[in-house]
Amino acid sequence: MTAKDVRHRAEELRKQINYHNYRYYVLDAPLIPDAEYDRLLRELQTLEEQHPELVTTDSPTQRVGAAPLKKFGAVKHEVPMLSLANAFSEQEVLDFDRRVRERLEAVAPGVLPPATLVEPFASALPCTAEEVEYSAEPKLDGLAVSLLYRDGVFAQGATRGDGVTGEDVTQNLRTIGAIPLRLYGAGYPALLEVRGEVYLSKAAFEELNAAARARGEKVFANPRNAAAGSLRQLDPKITARRPLAFFCYGVGAVERGKLPGEHGALLAQLRDWGLPVAHEQRVVSGVQGCLDYHRDMAARRSRLEYDIDGVVYKVNRLDQQELLGFVSRAPRWAVAHKFPAQEEITEVLGIDVQVGRTGALTPVARLKPVSVGGVTVSNATLHNQDEIDRLDVRVGDSVIVRRAGDVIPEIVSVVRERRPHGAKPFHLPKHCPVCGADVVRAEGEVVARCSGGLYCPAQRKEAILHFVSRRAMDIEGIGEKLVDQLVEHKLIETPADLYMLTKEQLAGLERMGEKSAANVVAALENSKATTLARFLYALGIREVGEATALALAQHFGDLNALMRADEETLQQVPDIGPVVAAHIVAFFHQRHNREVIERLLDPRVGGITWPAVKIAQRLPLAGKTFVLTGTLETLAREEAKEKLQTLGAKVSGSVSSKTNYLVAGADPGSKVEKARELGVEILDETALLKMLRA
Ligand code: IVH
Repeated sequence: MTAKDVRHRAEELRKQINYHNYRYYVLDAPLIPDAEYDRLLRELQTLEEQHPELVTTDSPTQRVGAAPLKKFGAVKHEVPMLSLANAFSEQEVLDFDRRVRERLEAVAPGVLPPATLVEPFASALPCTAEEVEYSAEPKLDGLAVSLLYRDGVFAQGATRGDGVTGEDVTQNLRTIGAIPLRLYGAGYPALLEVRGEVYLSKAAFEELNAAARARGEKVFANPRNAAAGSLRQLDPKITARRPLAFFCYGVGAVERGKLPGEHGALLAQLRDWGLPVAHEQRVVSGVQGCLDYHRDMAARRSRLEYDIDGVVYKVNRLDQQELLGFVSRAPRWAVAHKFPAQEEITEVLGIDVQVGRTGALTPVARLKPVSVGGVTVSNATLHNQDEIDRLDVRVGDSVIVRRAGDVIPEIVSVVRERRPHGAKPFHLPKHCPVCGADVVRAEGEVVARCSGGLYCPAQRKEAILHFVSRRAMDIEGIGEKLVDQLVEHKLIETPADLYMLTKEQLAGLERMGEKSAANVVAALENSKATTLARFLYALGIREVGEATALALAQHFGDLNALMRADEETLQQVPDIGPVVAAHIVAFFHQRHNREVIERLLDPRVGGITWPAVKIAQRLPLAGKTFVLTGTLETLAREEAKEKLQTLGAKVSGSVSSKTNYLVAGADPGSKVEKARELGVEILDETALLKMLRA
């Protein structure tokens, strides 16, 4: 390609990518799959890497990359960023609308002469103050920002700050995909300041917090805090990893250019220039239109992708807005109609501990019932011990609870001043509240679990379903529906009881005929001849998947040896670390689990058998003979020998035709000659270590 071709291709790619951004973020109607989009972006990246002179600041490849800042610069807002007055009831909205109409009637009775219009807004509509048109919009719960576009290129972005001066967060805003680095289309003013809200979708917020919780880190109290915390990062790379989104809802400064004279049309114009606008925005007629909109949005709220705390009504005509003006820091032409509070204060009556079907213990606060946003809340999840410690929640505490949409209610914080005398810190129990087995919390893990596995009623159905599954005992015909019935009718408590089921018992159950009952009994009978690895996997020990079960079977060869093994011994098995070892020991430590195993093997009950595992044969180096010579750097000779033997190898003192490998360290001596003569493969230390690791 000639230099000109390359330049054209880069321009073409940028155009395409911007168009697809527009389809994706603004229209919500992507045309191409993500993979194709990535391909375009990569092609541009490659071109730009090869021709750095072609890189422009508004190139879609230039979103991340700025170096971390020491502190944010200050940005003065030419047009102040105002806040909104609130209305909490229909009456307050009716009052707002009445004030708007009265004021318009007073300052511009009848028809508003077009001459009073100030550039850049143009309108020629007559002004009758009888029924006012409003733009009705969701009130997004995020963080207000201002985006400055010069000649269509994103030049500067700032937070609202105190409304007059904000912080320069340009580099962070650049990382947000929904914010165009270059406006789409044409006809935009030479200088255009767009205002809107940076926010996190509910899903992104939950995901962010779940990940933080899993790492044992601090969680964000709400999507707003999470968005603010993410945007106010000094390192743009951190912001780039947070899935922030953006919606615009207005303009600030405008120079050299014309904009529509109505707010609704203005937003539509911004949308055409590639700036996302909330899809729920509408133009409504009169105060009744506003109240209907509020009701509609309240009903849809929980299904929206983002959190809203109310809706905003804005007088639609910009000339009327101008006539109405401002009081103190808020416009007379707009109001935020809030939804009932999603946060309330109440008391913790107790903390219960629930055991999930995987044995996870979840503390749940029992609350004095309180109405939050119109729904009575009497429980709130506390997630885990770390969360309890973080909040320092105690029984008797007064707490702030929040309900966000359909999300399970949560405790936001404790009102310390109201803590009763003698309230004690709460700790999860050491024994499962359902079955009494030990509760284990592996090092580095956030979740505490019951180790009662096979026996714990809370885990019963899950344990049985796992036991019968195809890769475990492979018992066909036993699905969820059947297990539900078997457990609910108390026909089985543990997997061992499966083997005592009779055809008659099974045939008596819902959706079971004679034939399927007979099939299940036959499948159970067939499953009795299995392998040690399958059996171990079927036990459902935490963190013991198929591969680990196989490694355990091959290493120990015998169930009793495994059951007796301590954590140290277990960690000698390839790929078993301290966490898995702890789970295994805890599992076999439970008397109930040992009893169930005993019954599974008892010929009068389960009668499960497997062919003896010949340890040596199954080990990876079984049948191979090694000879060691010379000095090894990282391993003592004895150590190397032991390691090879654990993997099943034979280690001999002299090279012969039966030798498979000669391991030669420094100053090896005559054995190397001999090996060469016999054609024996010679390994150096690196090769040996590699083999041991493999
Ligand atoms: S208009 C002069 N529209 O609410 C009008 N604000 O309480 C200024 N907000 O700082 C804002 N959604 O952060 C407007 N559709 C919307 C909004 C919205 C959320 C936020 C914004 C503003 C705050 C005022």
